[in-house]
Amino acid sequence: MATLLHLQTSLSGTEGQSAQLAARYIAQWQQRNPQGQVIVRDLIADPVPHLDSERMQVLRGMVEAPLSATQQAVLDQSDALLDELQAADEIVIGVPLYNFSIPTQLKSYLDHLARAGVTFRYTENGPEGLIAGKKVVLLATRGGLYREQGIDFQVPFMKQFLGFMGMTDVDVIYAEGLAMGPLAKQSLSDAQQQVDQLAQA
Ligand SMILES: Cc1cc2nc3c(=O)[nH]c(=O)nc-3n(C[C@H](O)[C@H](O)[C@H](O)COP(=O)(O)O)c2cc1C
Repeated sequence: MATLLHLQTSLSGTEGQSAQLAARYIAQWQQRNPQGQVIVRDLIADPVPHLDSERMQVLRGMVEAPLSATQQAVLDQSDALLDELQAADEIVIGVPLYNFSIPTQLKSYLDHLARAGVTFRYTENGPEGLIAGKKVVLLATRGGLYREQGIDFQVPFMKQFLGFMGMTDVDVIYAEGLAMGPLAKQSLSDAQQQVDQLAQA
């Protein structure tokens, strides 16, 4: 069964422009995949904790067995997030720009996926991603204009992180200038059109 995982990371919830673009894409995906399963991981409603010293040591395999109940819970949470990701054929990520970066909740989630020997490994030729065969759609929303400028720390970061873990099939749809008056309307309408094109491709 085709499975789509939606990562919801807007502080505005379903009102967020990234969430609305995601909903538009997913509605069309469901029409094309009537038997398909959509899993929503709302990282705002149900945040993954920030890495702390203990979490880092557990996820890097630095803690000797037996793990305490707390440590085991950290590992179980990371494993569950990974299983969920691995079960998906397609991953739709709404990524708002907050203070020049991705939402902190999305960073925490990614921090729990980056595990040596599980999602990436280092070889003599450098890093190798271990998550294969995923299609990713990034819906990047911003108040200003940053696309393809050196000050874009949102989309290049996401592509780098996903690619590091092996997810290189990434389509990006930008909705920029959302705080810039009349430009916002045009920008959203362009993004919606691109969503429709991609969803029908
Ligand atoms: C806390 C916060 C910080 C923001 N920081 C930026 C920023 O650094 N640059 C920018 O262009 N827009 C910034 N914005 C505007 C958002 O990127 C814009 O409202 C976007 O639509 C948010 O995505 P969403 O609608 O999917 O939630 C910020 C918005 C909020 C709420």
